[in-house]
Amino acid sequence: MITIISGTNRPNSNTLKVARYYLKTLQQQEQEAQVFSLESLPDRLIASDLYGSRSAEFEPIQEMVAQTEKFLFIIPEYNGSFPGVLKTFIDACEFPVSFYNKKAALTGISSGKYGNIRGIDHFSGICGYLHLNVLPLRLHIPAIKYELNEEGDFFKEDTLKFTNDQISKLIKF
Ligand SMILES: Cc1cc2nc3c(=O)[nH]c(=O)nc-3n(C[C@H](O)[C@H](O)[C@H](O)COP(=O)(O)O)c2cc1C
Repeated sequence: MITIISGTNRPNSNTLKVARYYLKTLQQQEQEAQVFSLESLPDRLIASDLYGSRSAEFEPIQEMVAQTEKFLFIIPEYNGSFPGVLKTFIDACEFPVSFYNKKAALTGISSGKYGNIRGIDHFSGICGYLHLNVLPLRLHIPAIKYELNEEGDFFKEDTLKFTNDQISKLIKF
């Protein structure tokens, strides 16, 4: 099972649109995949699920993470890095069953010019600490509002080339 983490809880995010595009593409290749949006985190996460606390609402999320062998993180650029809610989610997940010795691919997106290069670097450092092995091909997609068509699909030739390459490498990873 590949779990695609949509790395923000912002409503109507481009991140979730991109996550759904990857889901559709993986399913077309007969891969078992699912999207988990950080919008589905408990509203009271910082009170209910950090530092040894565990809410009934988070339990199925923890179980889903523990069952996943490969992750694909779609990560928007917020203030020059990745969203704080993504780190809070990681901090809420149990160690080591959640990420240790597993595999992940990373895609950064932004409205600006850089496609979250710095945020993907920051997040890679955390993956290293967690022993979460990162696919060397990390993607950066800037100016995201010009990248998706009305169906929510990537359509530009170079974006399709890189995302398709990343997907086939993730499947073999
Ligand atoms: C709190 C916040 C901070 C942001 N900071 C940046 C930034 O530093 N650089 C940038 O290019 N875009 C920035 N953006 C714009 C996002 O990259 C843009 O909204 C893009 O669509 C991806 O985020 P989304 O998935 O929330 O839509 C920011 C957006 C938010 C909500």
